[in-house]
Amino acid sequence: MSLDVAAIKKDFPILEREVHGGRLVYLDSANTSQKPRAVLDAMAQYYEQSNANVHRGTYLIAEEATAALEGGRAKVARFIGAGAAREVVFTKNATEALNLVAKAWGRANLRAGDPVVLTELEHHANIVPWHQLVEEIGIELRWIPVGGDGHLDLRDLDRLVDGARIVSFAAMSNVLGTITPIERLVGAAHAAGAIAVIDASQFVPHLATDVRDWGADFVAFTGHKMCGPTGIGVLWGTETILDATPPFLTGGEMILNVTKEGFTANELPWKFEAGTPPIAEAVGLGAAVDYLSSLGMDAVRAHEVELTGYALRLLHARFGDDLVIHGPAEATERGGVISFTYRDLHPHDLTQVFDEHGVCVRAGHHCAKPLMRVLGAPATARASLYVYNDEADVDALADAIAAAADFFTR
Ligand SMILES: Cc1ncc(COP(=O)(O)O)c(C=O)c1O
Repeated sequence: MSLDVAAIKKDFPILEREVHGGRLVYLDSANTSQKPRAVLDAMAQYYEQSNANVHRGTYLIAEEATAALEGGRAKVARFIGAGAAREVVFTKNATEALNLVAKAWGRANLRAGDPVVLTELEHHANIVPWHQLVEEIGIELRWIPVGGDGHLDLRDLDRLVDGARIVSFAAMSNVLGTITPIERLVGAAHAAGAIAVIDASQFVPHLATDVRDWGADFVAFTGHKMCGPTGIGVLWGTETILDATPPFLTGGEMILNVTKEGFTANELPWKFEAGTPPIAEAVGLGAAVDYLSSLGMDAVRAHEVELTGYALRLLHARFGDDLVIHGPAEATERGGVISFTYRDLHPHDLTQVFDEHGVCVRAGHHCAKPLMRVLGAPATARASLYVYNDEADVDALADAIAAAADFFTR
């Protein structure tokens, strides 16, 4: 294995606890990841030693708090290959980041009839803000289809992007694990005169990311899926597009000056950070980035490919055609997200039995209802792997599936 998972498991206090009399087998990291002690300690240290509001104080701990927030931003900027820290805007989560793009850039730039291109594998966070602009402005949504192999079907790409103003797509599907052809889609968007927006929520935690290499205009992701805390997400944008985008939420930190007649917005990135920002969360996200960097993102990815390959082989060998796994067949073409159905058993029934075995797996539509319709399944069970999972966890999943099958077919 590329990672020393036995050592990594010890970094995550929650993995020491027992559930239902056995060990906790956490296979829901696409939903939210667990947090290493380094992240928990960094946040506790911030609260215990430096807690104060930022960008306002003239006393020592307020300066420390400001340095902690901006230090977190600088770490995130380096981690994703941003040109400068001012390109990194902190939001509440990826959903808010995508809403910022739709509501600030979109409202300022889109007109009735303007085409916005999405894919069928998007999370609702990258669908609903655009639906709102259909209602508000009358934009036209176009959809890049998903083929039977779990990959995007790009045969009609030129026609779909023709005249488009935005192409907005997930870098990795949270249901199928599919890694989408990022450079190709960004290239097609730009060739058509559209901006490219990437929802990298499932990608950044698992693969080395270089936003400048991608050449997109906006990239959104979320802290809690990458060993960081909840309550913080990121919108990266090129300086040019962020400068040209009006503020989204207003008040507090995003202000330079206010008169009775109006206001002047702050510089980047604070122009987009209304109110008191997530300070402890930025500290935690910085520590998460340090943690992942210490493992090495190439090793993180190599581990994921090895373990996903193991899981696909094992599940197929044990359950054959009774178990349908959605998404690309090759581990190298996908992340560690394994969505499946077992015969005609409802995924919620399956995962309830899994829970009795301490196996945490999500069941449902995974906030991707248009994709579920394409798959022809109202719900799937979804096991998702991360740095602290090993073959024993996958074996526990297989045993839990066998137990559920036995229980319901008895
Ligand atoms: C692909 C994708 N986009 C966006 C989101 C939304 O993330 P958050 O709930 O942190 O805003 C998720 C979370 O499940 C996701 O998987």
